[in-house]
Amino acid sequence: MNIHRGRRLRGDAFVRSLARETRMSPDTLIWPLFVADGENLVEPIPSLDGQFHYSPDRLGEAVDAGLAAGVDKFLLFGLPAHKDEVGSGAYDDEGVVQRGIRAVREKYGRSVYIVTDICMCEYTSHGHCGILCGQDVDNDATLPYLDRIAVSHARAGADMVAPSDMMDGRVASIRRALDDAGFLKLPIMSYAVKYASAFYGPFRDAAGSAPAFGDRKSYQMDFHNVREALNEAAADEDEGADILMVKPALAYGDVIRAVREETDLPLAAYSVSGEYAMIRTAGRAGLIDEHRVMCESAVAAYRAGADILITYYAKELAAAMKNGEIG
Ligand code: PBG
Repeated sequence: MNIHRGRRLRGDAFVRSLARETRMSPDTLIWPLFVADGENLVEPIPSLDGQFHYSPDRLGEAVDAGLAAGVDKFLLFGLPAHKDEVGSGAYDDEGVVQRGIRAVREKYGRSVYIVTDICMCEYTSHGHCGILCGQDVDNDATLPYLDRIAVSHARAGADMVAPSDMMDGRVASIRRALDDAGFLKLPIMSYAVKYASAFYGPFRDAAGSAPAFGDRKSYQMDFHNVREALNEAAADEDEGADILMVKPALAYGDVIRAVREETDLPLAAYSVSGEYAMIRTAGRAGLIDEHRVMCESAVAAYRAGADILITYYAKELAAAMKNGEIG
């Protein structure tokens, strides 16, 4: 009879850490950062308490804070000075993300890892993730623009690109463009499974990227579906993605698990702005313990099968992993 096995395995901190099933470390964390046009600017983001807009010249302050906590991987989003129909600020070699990458490279060399988001919604006047044809996003007309953005980021010194636009065929298209430009070793982390989610609300305020009309349901996924996720993941894998991503994370543990069981590629989960904002504001209101709910939610993503976590709590989670609270 083993009726007490559970209690023996939970008896003290030593045996609990010995028997832990989910392991994680700070080197699997990526911290999203917002690079805004301008100079000498670090401004709090109202929709994301605790996160900031950084001008390229001061982006290093976020990198310093990350490194001090044990986070050395960053995902950059851009807020350009000007927007237009085709999002030309996104592939401008003097664009805000390109300048941010160069500033970080100059200061830190190869000691930090820079991932860049490839999308157009922060750069288009209409806020959609691609080129419009009437009221619709034209999938195929968008691809060459995504290619140009990716190559421009690579030239500026990005280590990895992460297309989040959800156009079909973009991974193959970007891969070819990067290879043609000589970036054969630069990996693609594809937002393979990205749902049309209300959890992105605070991000759209932070990045000024809410669509001017309509929604993103024609290119982002319906949250009723999980088989569709497997199709999207398989397509991106075939097209040459190196890492797959599921987004959001918190309400999508089943999807992370399903994709994990289907692919042998590394899998990232993106704990998005709305997840952060919920935990943050409920914590600040004294309704939940922010730190503990943050830890529990992060562990859930890894337990579901994620190898990598993209999170606005990267610094705080790294600290919790280092002191053994989780991980
Ligand atoms: C760009 C993009 C979005 C997010 C990441 N890349 C917004 C969207 O699709 O509307 C959301 C990230 C977050 O909510 O933290 N397409």
